[in-house]
Amino acid sequence: EKGGYEHFMLKEIHEQPRAIRDTYRGRLLRDEAIIKMAGVEDNMKKFLNANRIIIVACGTSWHAGLVAEYIFEEFSRIPVEVEYASEFRYRNPVITENDVVIAISQSGETADTLAAIKLAKSKGAFVFGVCNVVGSSIARETHAGAYTHAGPEIGVASTKAFTTQITVLTLIALRLARAKGTMSSSTFRMYLQELELIPQKVEQLLKVDEHVKDIARQYLLSTNCLYLGRGYNFPVALEGALKLKEISYIHAEGYPAAEMKHGPIALIDDRMPVIVIATSKGHYEKVVSNIQEIKSRKGKIIAVVTEGDTAVKEIADHVIEIPDCEEAFSPLLTTIPLQLLSYHIAVMRNCNVDQPRNLAKSVTVE
Ligand code: M6R
Repeated sequence: EKGGYEHFMLKEIHEQPRAIRDTYRGRLLRDEAIIKMAGVEDNMKKFLNANRIIIVACGTSWHAGLVAEYIFEEFSRIPVEVEYASEFRYRNPVITENDVVIAISQSGETADTLAAIKLAKSKGAFVFGVCNVVGSSIARETHAGAYTHAGPEIGVASTKAFTTQITVLTLIALRLARAKGTMSSSTFRMYLQELELIPQKVEQLLKVDEHVKDIARQYLLSTNCLYLGRGYNFPVALEGALKLKEISYIHAEGYPAAEMKHGPIALIDDRMPVIVIATSKGHYEKVVSNIQEIKSRKGKIIAVVTEGDTAVKEIADHVIEIPDCEEAFSPLLTTIPLQLLSYHIAVMRNCNVDQPRNLAKSVTVE
């Protein structure tokens, strides 16, 4: 059942090329240059008239929502707010009939997300679900939706659910961009092509496994870890930190790279590994100068860079290369080595990777 892998988590990490492909299959029609999603098409008016989109979710799904915020605002020029479902539901939030709420949930059973949906509905908002489990409570409670089609995710640590959530949300953002005219048809076509290339790039990237394992071996006794990223990859830093915390029990924090000098830089010494996402198109020079700041304080740097990088290679202790891609799609790639790093560190620390202590796969109580 684990398909020859030692853990479900590792199997699910390796399933991502297929899972991402399944997510856009039948929806991304490159030859016709269209995106077909019934749940969006049938409710196009709601999306086009939306004053804003409010995304509600928890945990890793909330991180996918943050990535989507950057993508929606860039592609479709619709203001987006991303909320923890647990905060949103108790805050007496201002919601109107012109708001579109997108609820993201792998399991479709998360209690706080379900409650947030009910609240939004009671205020007249249109609620769209992005779920993995077909027929789940959230899939039934929402007005419309789109499934991620990732297949069952058994490991408690979410992996393929995250990348497929980002894929679905990207498809929606692209569809709305065309409908609103915020993206030219040539740019749209280019993005369709680039998105179709992602699965094979993930496949190629998965070959870094042994290299990541070597890095993991050197940091398995760390007690703290910092993850930094900017722009589209800021949420990936948060997700990388969550993954390490939940399966290896090492304390980790994710930060937007530029926030480091507002506090966390005080933590840096020669025992602090800092994982930095420094892709070539994403505020690269600024991130490089953050890396220099860390290095001059003797922090250990594990950098995720774009193939062919030279500047970061000179400073970092370790580099992990990802294939070149559009910056907006880079979270689908940069996430992969961070999943592998957490996985290997957890295995080396003899942790129960698939069922970490104190955690359940779906949190059905608040
Ligand atoms: O099923 P959901 O997507 O609603 O679950 C939300 C979180 O409980 C979940 O993502 C959790 O944070 C994972 N264990 C993270 O790996």
